Amino acid sequence: MKLVRLPLLCLLLFCATQAFNVTIYSTPEVNSDDVIEAELNETVSLVCQLGGGHDPQEGEELVWLRNEAVVRLQDGNKEGHSSVCITPITYEDNAATFTCHLKKNATTSASVTLNVTYGPQLSGSEQVLVEEEAELHLQCDIQANPPVSTVTWMQNGNQVDLEAGGFMVTNDGFKSQLSANKVARHFHEGTYQCLANSPAYGIFSKLFFVTLTDKTIKFPMMPMIAGLVVVGLTMLLAIIARWKTITKCFKSLSLKD
Ligand SMILES: *[C@@H]1O[C@H](CO)[C@@H](O)[C@H](O)[C@H]1NC(C)=O
Ligand SMILES: *[C@@H]1O[C@H](CO)[C@@H](O)[C@H](O)[C@H]1NC(C)=O
Ligand SMILES: *[C@@H]1O[C@H](CO)[C@@H](O)[C@H](O)[C@H]1NC(C)=O
Repeated sequence: MKLVRLPLLCLLLFCATQAFNVTIYSTPEVNSDDVIEAELNETVSLVCQLGGGHDPQEGEELVWLRNEAVVRLQDGNKEGHSSVCITPITYEDNAATFTCHLKKNATTSASVTLNVTYGPQLSGSEQVLVEEEAELHLQCDIQANPPVSTVTWMQNGNQVDLEAGGFMVTNDGFKSQLSANKVARHFHEGTYQCLANSPAYGIFSKLFFVTLTDKTIKFPMMPMIAGLVVVGLTMLLAIIARWKTITKCFKSLSLKD
């Protein structure tokens, strides 16, 4: 674990006043707002140092919290000096706050917050099959920190013509979706692309190869069942009405035999 600002640390340890205090040192460094900027998959090391005219002795334990949860520390990593390592940094670490305090007195504490920066998860391509006259939905994950500044949808190399194609674009900050009702082969088949511009990481994009398939004829099940029931009932009624003549018939037949 790398100790940063070692001279300052010594100063704090040997020349400070009597009040206890804890200080967090980190790699990468903490900025003036107690925020650590880190990228996805990186490692962040935090060191909490007890200082302030204190003679480090057993019992002066330090505690680390991640948000409200206590971080489990190994023995020997608690007295007067304690380090934690966050590796790799994940999406869940964004905005997480790490607090170090004296076990005996939680008001003697220091905190840092992580700002995990990342671009949108957009790459590669996808094959999309859609039936003629059905709905088309294409979706791009645009979540990023800092947020993307623009999202553009392209169709065969040109910006999508929303009106002409009956397209609709929705964007909730997490996903951008391009949709169209009742697609027609001559208009909607082709190559689509969504482009998201991240102010920190540049342009990200994903391709969609949209193929239209023939419309399949779907049997309307409910009317069909209703029709069969009506036919069945009519036949039954007809049989009942004729029952007498039919039985008579059988009787006369058996008489003949
Ligand atoms: C982070 O690591 C994962 C797993 O190794 C990898 O799939 C992903 O592309 C990495 N992301 C970045 C931004 O480096
Ligand atoms: C806890 O620490 C604060 C700030 O350092 C101090 O003002 C207070 O007196 C301490 N409380 C106890 C019980 O030591
Ligand atoms: C996190 O860092 C990014 C990139 O520097 C910045 O735009 C954003 O405002 C920061 N967010 C917070 C909460 O500090």
